[in-house]
Amino acid sequence: MDIRRLEPSDIPLIQHANLENLPENYFMKYYLYHALSWPQLSYVAVDVSRPQKTPYDYPKIVGYVLAKMEEEPTDGVQHGHITSLSVMRTHRRLGIAEKLMRQSQLAMVETFGAQYVSLHVRVSNKAAIHLYTKTLGFDQEKSEPKYYADGEDAHCMKLDLSTIR
Ligand code: ACO
Repeated sequence: MDIRRLEPSDIPLIQHANLENLPENYFMKYYLYHALSWPQLSYVAVDVSRPQKTPYDYPKIVGYVLAKMEEEPTDGVQHGHITSLSVMRTHRRLGIAEKLMRQSQLAMVETFGAQYVSLHVRVSNKAAIHLYTKTLGFDQEKSEPKYYADGEDAHCMKLDLSTIR
């Protein structure tokens, strides 16, 4: 498994993975905005056991993290935000999401001097909540009632990045 930066040419595959794995979907231009504005922060996991035989073969992307810096932080503190994270079902529980998250967090600190990283997660999403709180050490800041389009509440989470500065 290869973890590398997201390139604009990966975007159709990322969008496909997002549609497969999550109900929160985005227009192509939103992915492109991330890739062009903060190219250091978004990563993909590529299954290198399926090599490209011709230049027309697509890489097999099995996971991604789409991340950004908060452009106008209300608290005035420079921080990153995880817009979307997912791993294909066939490749889950292999540590891919943890690796993607750690790469992005490191780049937030090294490139942009981020003090912390934030994200939203559905209150019912046990797998992601375990990853964020137990594996990565995020704190649950507060809940946002009816944050999602279908009315589900979100946990707002935050991870202090001072330990990797
Ligand atoms: N139930 C309980 N714990 C789980 C589960 C599960 N289903 N899946 C993973 N974990 C735990 C692992 O055991 C591991 O714990 P450990 O560090 O204590 O050993 C930890 O979570 C990290 O596991 P990874 O293998 O790195 O996680 P994985 O690559 O399987 O991806 C993810 C986890 C991203 C949540 C995946 O299940 C997925 O894509 N789900 C659908 C999309 C999704 O929910 N994305 C997050 C939405 S929130 C957002 O995008 C900001």
